Amino acid sequence: MDRGQPDENTLRAAVALACRAPSVHNTQPWRWELGEHSLHLYADRSRALPAIDPLGADLTISCGAALHHLRVGLAALGWRAVVHRLPNPAQPDHLAAIEFQQREPRQSDIALASAIPRRRTDRRAFSSWAVPEAIIGQLVADARAEGVEAEEVVGTARDELLMAIVAAAEAQEADPAYLAEIREWTGVYPGASAGVPAANIPAGSRQYGNLRMREFAPGELLQTNQLRLGEDAGSLIILSTSSDDELSQLRAGEATSAVLLEATSAGLASCPLSQPLEVVQTRELVRDQVLGGSTCPQLVIRVGWAGFNADPLPATPRRPVIDVLTP
Ligand SMILES: Cc1cc2nc3c(=O)[nH]c(=O)nc-3n(C[C@H](O)[C@H](O)[C@H](O)COP(=O)(O)O)c2cc1C
Repeated sequence: MDRGQPDENTLRAAVALACRAPSVHNTQPWRWELGEHSLHLYADRSRALPAIDPLGADLTISCGAALHHLRVGLAALGWRAVVHRLPNPAQPDHLAAIEFQQREPRQSDIALASAIPRRRTDRRAFSSWAVPEAIIGQLVADARAEGVEAEEVVGTARDELLMAIVAAAEAQEADPAYLAEIREWTGVYPGASAGVPAANIPAGSRQYGNLRMREFAPGELLQTNQLRLGEDAGSLIILSTSSDDELSQLRAGEATSAVLLEATSAGLASCPLSQPLEVVQTRELVRDQVLGGSTCPQLVIRVGWAGFNADPLPATPRRPVIDVLTP
């Protein structure tokens, strides 16, 4: 191995871990390029969702999540990633240039990396056990360590958020272009390399108390036995930033990954919820009514305990590394 530079196998392994990151409707809107002493992350706008994600925020957040997964994977493989975000203002799709410093992996690096292949988006109802404050505090701290504000949404702010979700759903479901994109990217079957599989979408009602989950193509996932949908005690954490530019969204994606991996390590189930932030009016409503106008909302993350004896969820597919990494 070259001192100061991971070998190609190490970089391929790290990119494979990065590509396990969550992405909006599993579009995997990223590509990677190997430099001589660096690795580069680009947004792949050919995989954008113009009707679902007209602002392109979900796309950049997805790439940020992949960037954080890469950092975590590299740390476990003995390398610290030195990240230059948006290194070239003339090329907005060039999201990050990554250089490397050799560093002994810590136990915590390995523990976090081991959560990557275990993490799943769980859209089922959660159990009636509340998430302890200490765990919520840790998730909030992990997001803040990425330079992103985070808080649990409770009380009247939670009611406002739940109403914004319903209003966004109604606006989107009245748009034929939105419905066509949802049909294209969800309810996919084995053999697909992208999209949300029918096996990961609950069959039947997805109204959990006052929380309305996004309507996808018909699903095949059964709710856990004996769980009452109305008793779901999932917590909602909102990530927000002081600006609403691409750098903020990239950082919000890194924070998303940090929160989801920590939640997985703690044994929690989790699900990103972007619907109320995809429609301009409800995005503004969330900013003003949920965050008091102080910061710009980027993503809602729902966390909770999966039902007792819940079946493990299948992993969703990914494009092969060879298709996303240019040597
Ligand atoms: C920015 C972003 C927005 C997302 N929005 C939603 C959403 O609104 N509803 C949902 O059920 N899943 C949402 N997801 C989860 C993706 O659908 C999921 O990550 C993808 O299908 C891959 O599956 P996995 O997370 O189990 O690996 C979102 C993920 C990201 C990164």
